Amino acid sequence: MANIVIVGAQWGDEGKGKIVDLLTQFADAVVRFQGGDNAGHTVYLGKEKFVFHIIPSGILYEGKKCIIGNGVVIDPGTLITEITGLKKRGYLKDDSQLMISEEAHLILPYHRRIDTARERVFKIGTTGRGIGPAYEDKVARSGIRMGDLIDEKIFRKKLDANLTQKNSYLVQVLKEEGFEFEKIHDEFVQFRSQLGKYVKDTAREIHEEILKGKHILFEGAQGALLDVDHGTYPYVTASNTVAANACVGSGIGPTLIDSVVGIAKAYTTRVGEGPFPTELHDTLGDMIRQKGQEFGATTGRPRRCGWFDAVVVKHAVRINGIQGMVITKMDVLNDLDKLKVCVGYRLNGRRIDYVPSNIEAFQSVEAVYEELEGWKTEIKGAKSLSDLPANAQRYLRRVEELIGTKIVMVSVGSERNETLGVQNPFASPRSRT
Ligand code: IMP
Repeated sequence: MANIVIVGAQWGDEGKGKIVDLLTQFADAVVRFQGGDNAGHTVYLGKEKFVFHIIPSGILYEGKKCIIGNGVVIDPGTLITEITGLKKRGYLKDDSQLMISEEAHLILPYHRRIDTARERVFKIGTTGRGIGPAYEDKVARSGIRMGDLIDEKIFRKKLDANLTQKNSYLVQVLKEEGFEFEKIHDEFVQFRSQLGKYVKDTAREIHEEILKGKHILFEGAQGALLDVDHGTYPYVTASNTVAANACVGSGIGPTLIDSVVGIAKAYTTRVGEGPFPTELHDTLGDMIRQKGQEFGATTGRPRRCGWFDAVVVKHAVRINGIQGMVITKMDVLNDLDKLKVCVGYRLNGRRIDYVPSNIEAFQSVEAVYEELEGWKTEIKGAKSLSDLPANAQRYLRRVEELIGTKIVMVSVGSERNETLGVQNPFASPRSRT
């Protein structure tokens, strides 16, 4: 029995979807524990492309349970679109495969409108999906949960109380249009009839699976540097993206987590605003964007691209307790003569090797690079890590030294079988007492 958490070690979009899909073959269940439809986890199966925003990326395997935990915020419309799309393509034949926590909070239309209206002032570069405002309501204890949606009387009462306040905030403060109660209510009644069958006490279900000795993958969304506490605040998302939140967001204790796997790209990308010390503003950045297809899976926005930043990934290793790293999209760097890796920063003339928590300080750091030779070879067809050209292996070894954790797998293409070093991560978990 083992429970493994998979998290992004940069600013999101590291390729978690592909790795979760790949490792689901060894698991019995996959649990999403935070975020919402701001995430866009892409999985390729042959020529078929899937983008999951809320449903865990293990859904393509028949019989593997996919659980949306209490820490997720759910836009029911998006979720239904995802469910319908999957069913049309012949997946999710058995509805008992999917479970939604009754404690997960709903994203309502006013959350999205507040999100986009506030962007005019705060300029975080959010996905506009209402994620921040939905989490705010959760913490303010005025949020509406999946379980509330199921009960007409409670839903009506909570929607009414919320809408009165939201409409006055929208109209008077944000100078936006308000919403009609009946319109939202009727739409959500439809959602109830479609989603009701999936709503469960998932914390108990997960615990029962664990007691039965099942293997569970906890699928993080976004990345370490977008964590609301430990990321580049305020340019972060509204949830804790770190591995510790797998416990809170699914309802299990920390003693039940056996290991944490991080995912990082062989270079760095970021969408939205905020500091990015290794960002490339030149044709090389454009080349990486085109070759790596670095456009947001949720919003289509072009991603900002830059060199691998070992300081950032080392920070992610520390705040997550990452024990093994997966490097993705290594093939995107195939054509380069030389590669740069950021090994530290210069801040006010002083050399530092950590991410400063003060955003102004982080915004003013200058990256210190080490240069490595490129491998100038197509690595897509490689079958094992030892097949990689010597310079590619050297690059990985240097990254390993700098981030202080072992690289356990390397992805060299978008398909499942284009991953090197795949092993059953549940085979030798840390023993639990
Ligand atoms: P929000 O999560 O929509 O509030 O956006 C806050 C910040 O997180 C913005 O910079 C977004 O671009 C970023 N963000 C949110 N979700 C993702 C993701 O799945 N991948 C990459 N960036 C994300």
